[in-house]
Amino acid sequence: MDVQPNNQQIQLIKVEKAYGKHNVLSNCNVNIKRGEFVVIVGRSGSGKSTLLNLIGGLDKPTLGEINILGYSLHTLNEEKLSNLRRKYFGFVFQFFNLIPTLTALENIRLPMSLNGISKKDSINGAKLLLKELRLSGLENHFPDELSGGEQQRVAIARALSHRPEIILADEPTGNLDLETANEVLDLLNTTCRRRGTTLIMATHSKEVMGLADQIFSIRDSEIKKAST
Ligand SMILES: Nc1ncnc2c1ncn2[C@@H]1O[C@H](COP(=O)(O)OP(=O)(O)OP(=O)(O)O)[C@@H](O)[C@H]1O
Ligand SMILES: [Mg+2]
Repeated sequence: MDVQPNNQQIQLIKVEKAYGKHNVLSNCNVNIKRGEFVVIVGRSGSGKSTLLNLIGGLDKPTLGEINILGYSLHTLNEEKLSNLRRKYFGFVFQFFNLIPTLTALENIRLPMSLNGISKKDSINGAKLLLKELRLSGLENHFPDELSGGEQQRVAIARALSHRPEIILADEPTGNLDLETANEVLDLLNTTCRRRGTTLIMATHSKEVMGLADQIFSIRDSEIKKAST
C-alpha cells in the first residue's frame, strides 16, 4: 500500500454515527492536513473517542464517508484496513496499555517488528526515541518498574516507532498529575512536530489548546470548529 498524495490527509464527509437509536455524531465534516495538531474537546460521553475510533478505522460510520491518505475506508476489507492501521497509525491511550511482560525497549520495538523492520534498525530506532522522550537508562525496565509519566512516554515512543503518518491520542494525560501531564503533552507535541506526524488528540486539558492548529468541539452530536 503506497501513500497517495492528498493535501487533505484526513476527510470526514457527512459522517454520522449511531449506536442503536442513540445518535452520537451527526453531519460531521472534518478536514485535516498532514502534520497538523488537532484537538478534540467535549464533555464526557460527547463522542470524542467515537470520532477517534472512526478515523482510525476501529469503528465504522452509520452514514457518510471517511478518507484517509486517499483511501476511502468503506472500500477496504478487514485485512486492508488492518494493514492501513498498522502502517500509518500510532495509538496512545489514557491507561498507557503497555505489554507488562516486555521491557520498555521491547514495547517500543513492537510496531517496528510488526511492520517488518529489521532487528538492528528497530533497536537503533527505539534507542533514538528513548533519548528523544528523555527515557535513556530505562530501556530494560518493565512497565511496573516505571512511573506513570515514564510509562506514557514509552507508550508515545511505541506509537511513533514505525514512523506512522498519524497519531491518535485518546486523553493521553488523563491519568497523570498536572505537571507530568504538561511535560508529556509537550514531548508528544514537539516530537510529532519534528517528525511531521499528524497528531489528533481528545483531551480535557485546557493547556493544550494554545498549541493546536485546529480545535473541534463536540456538543449534542454536532461537531464545530472552535477558534485556536
Ligand atoms: N460500543 C458502544 N455501544 C453503545 N454505545 C456506545 C458505544 N461506545 C460509545 N457509546 C456511547 O456513545 C457516546 C459517546 O461515547 P464516547 O466514548 O465517544 O464519549 P467520549 O467523549 O469519549 O467520553 P469520555 O470523555 O468520557 O471519554 C456515549 O454516550 C457512549 O455511551
Ligand atoms: Mg473517551
